[in-house]
Amino acid sequence: MKSLIQSVLILIPVLLLTKGAEVIEVIYAQLGETVSLKAPEVTHSHDYYLFWHFNGSEIAWRNTFGRSGFNKDKWNFTISVSGNSLTIPDIKYFGTFVGKLRNHDTGVTYKVVKLNVNVNPPSPVLLGEWMFLTCNPETLEKDKKPEIHWLNPQGEKMPTIQGRLTLRATDQHNGQWTCVVTNNNRESKSKISVKVLYLLPPASSTLYTSKSRPLTIPCSIPSQISWEQIKSKGIQHVQWDFFPSPGSILNSSVRQRLFYLSLEEPLNWKPDQHRGLTPVSTLKNGNLSLISNRVKEDDSGDYECTLKFKNGETLSRTVHVNVLQITSSPETDLISGQQVNLSCSVGRPLPSDLRVKWFPPEQSSLPLPSDHHPAHLSIPAVGTGDSGKWKCELWQNDKRLAAAVIVLKIEPERSAWMLVIICSVTAIVVLLLILVLVLYRRRQRKMRHLRHRLCQCKNPKPKGFYRT
Ligand SMILES: *[C@@H]1O[C@H](CO)[C@@H](O)[C@H](O)[C@H]1NC(C)=O
Ligand SMILES: *[C@@H]1O[C@H](CO)[C@@H](O)[C@H](O)[C@H]1NC(C)=O
Ligand SMILES: *[C@@H]1O[C@H](CO)[C@@H](O)[C@H](O)[C@H]1NC(C)=O
Repeated sequence: MKSLIQSVLILIPVLLLTKGAEVIEVIYAQLGETVSLKAPEVTHSHDYYLFWHFNGSEIAWRNTFGRSGFNKDKWNFTISVSGNSLTIPDIKYFGTFVGKLRNHDTGVTYKVVKLNVNVNPPSPVLLGEWMFLTCNPETLEKDKKPEIHWLNPQGEKMPTIQGRLTLRATDQHNGQWTCVVTNNNRESKSKISVKVLYLLPPASSTLYTSKSRPLTIPCSIPSQISWEQIKSKGIQHVQWDFFPSPGSILNSSVRQRLFYLSLEEPLNWKPDQHRGLTPVSTLKNGNLSLISNRVKEDDSGDYECTLKFKNGETLSRTVHVNVLQITSSPETDLISGQQVNLSCSVGRPLPSDLRVKWFPPEQSSLPLPSDHHPAHLSIPAVGTGDSGKWKCELWQNDKRLAAAVIVLKIEPERSAWMLVIICSVTAIVVLLLILVLVLYRRRQRKMRHLRHRLCQCKNPKPKGFYRT
């Protein structure tokens, strides 16, 4: 309904005018805009000579053969007459334009009023900074106060007070704003572009990754904002910091500065405690991302990219990096029958939309539910079949985010029994040997004793001495 009313209203100046009629229109335009003015619309208007006046001087005309021309002394900027319209691209002068048909006494008067359309501070505006949009006619016609409102880049009407709009810049405010001035049911629209300086990704992001995988830790400036514009905002420093995750062996309360940007030309990153990361080389495109070729276990933590400006404003983005790991308790070298707990985690509780999927070794007989796998597996008694690679994967809907692997070595329990048997057998053998030895010794002693006695009988010593 509303759009119907609008289209009807816009049609009014196009309605056929009767002889001698005069129409006055007020049009609002900002400097440099293109303004199109329509001449009086009458039956057989091409049979009449049309001329355009600006502040009382004739600036353009169209004759009855359709030829047109300009008075270059009076108007030294580009204008064009096409049919019944006068088009002024890049308007620089504001005032009264009159389009009249000779011998018909019918005309249209356009009062073109300059509209001051501004954004303060000038673009780019920092995310979170207060910004003021103003839209005011330079002169006001008597008793004709126009209604003014702003449309945001999404085309939504914003509450405007006397052409003024105050808000804190968000990434949604980036784009074309439109000031709509409604006067006498006629709308004039003027656009202004607002660039908001923020960091991408737009919200804090969480990355899940696996050990030894490459990783990009993203941080960049929207491509429509040049480095020159950032300099003009008074950039003071740019840096990357790392906060190890709470479960890490590194002290998590300690901020480690990874890199800082040397702002003298040519721009380049200076490493601090770089932790094996490298910044991407396309810095001039506003890409501040860091790259890791091989993620390590202790890379889990928060990475913060910060831009600080001279007026005290700060822009920063945090990327939470989570490295998936499997831990085995008590250890990975086990004996069959032992209890083992395996846990697949990133060192902090997983959000509810993430799922864990376990892949035991092929020959493992551990029963796992097919739909839901727990992050912590408790195996009451491992068997030798559980030996080998255990894999766990982290899934979000149908997307695999990360995977981790652990190798369990499980010795058969038998070998332990065997050890006991071997020990016992050895002990028995030793005992037997000792017994044999003891018996042998005893037997030997007995034999000697016997021989001694025999010797006494067979070779009796002559009793007494024989003297020869
Ligand atoms: C023509 O140009 C001159 C200087 O460039 C300027 O001063 C003058 O106002 C212009 N006149 C019109 C009618 O545009
Ligand atoms: C920044 O560079 C990295 C690595 O080359 C690339 O993956 C990423 O898409 C780039 N980001 C932007 C916003 O261009
Ligand atoms: C495994 O976890 C259970 C409880 O979840 C616990 O009672 C047990 O002591 C753990 N065993 C080992 C070897 O850590």
